[in-house]
Amino acid sequence: MIEGDAEADAGLEAAVRILRAGGLVANPTETVYGLAADASNPAAVRRLYAVKGRPPGHPVIVHIASVEALSRWASRVSEDARRLAEAFWPGPLTLILPRTAAVVDEVTGGRDTVGLRVPDHPLTLALLRAFDGGLAAPSANRFGRVSPTTAADVLADLGGDVDLVLDGGPCGVGVESTIVDCSEEGAPPVILRPGGVTAEQIEAALGHPVRRTPDGPSRAPGMLPAHYAPHAQVIVVENPEDALALAGAHASTGKPTGLLTPRATRAPEGVSALIAGETPEAYAAVLYDRLREADRLGLDLLVVVPPPAVGVGVAVRDRLARSAAGSVR
Ligand code: TXA
Ligand code: MG
Repeated sequence: MIEGDAEADAGLEAAVRILRAGGLVANPTETVYGLAADASNPAAVRRLYAVKGRPPGHPVIVHIASVEALSRWASRVSEDARRLAEAFWPGPLTLILPRTAAVVDEVTGGRDTVGLRVPDHPLTLALLRAFDGGLAAPSANRFGRVSPTTAADVLADLGGDVDLVLDGGPCGVGVESTIVDCSEEGAPPVILRPGGVTAEQIEAALGHPVRRTPDGPSRAPGMLPAHYAPHAQVIVVENPEDALALAGAHASTGKPTGLLTPRATRAPEGVSALIAGETPEAYAAVLYDRLREADRLGLDLLVVVPPPAVGVGVAVRDRLARSAAGSVR
């Protein structure tokens, strides 16, 4: 736990030392915790993949310190891309851009593009400035597990395989960044993954429409449904009354059953009631903790009433859809 300034400085110094030596540091962001390695060190990035258990060939997002750092990583920054970076960085937005020759294949999975973002967390921004380079930083979970939103989640999942965990408190947004592909010259940007920045905000900043992911599983590469699944089977039910009935019926067979709803409900006999949050923002902030809670409770089935598809609710519904698809048995 990093509290006072002196302690925070010592933590940052240690983190920079570890990263320069090719080690791994878990870093807090406003979305989820990242697992950071020096993005210009292929061996460090390979170790990152090994610890995550992630197959090679999956591209990772690179955290950078500022818009000014873009030129080191991106060979062409379209007017739209620059406008988005200036409007939303630091923030929950990842831009896919054509890479420079300096970007190593380990980071891009061999593609000619690179994913870049400036995360909005004071500790990680200080780390990026002190490190003075890019950090390959996928979410700090093993392949196929729910993304961590607290330092304790990171430790529970990765344990001794991470050299240092910088504790920046719980993540405020709670779901991963919006990924926008701006790599195709002359084409409008495409939202590959909905996240903390909404399509409406992006279109307002650009002053023209973008191609959107429909309200269903997103299309960024390497994002399999199972990535978002707890051990429990997840079923998404729009109508709260139907959700109550389904949970009640499953619980009556004696199997551990949970019901995740935006607000408190009278859960049927024998059903564990989990509450997310009334607004899409509140729902997103606790979503992954509630999916973990389903596992802590050893649930067999989690029936979920999703938030409406407005704002970050679109991203929550995307993750829930994949959670449900990934948990079908
Ligand atoms: O909020 C976030 O984005 C978090 C925090 C830690 O920054 N990071 C995150 O990283 O979610 P990760 O590695 O779990 O997901 C990265 C996804 C990849 O699965 C891939 O779909 C997409 O970003 N991606 C990265 N580079 C790409 C590229 N060059 N082209 C297309 N997609 C890319
Ligand atoms: Mg991830």
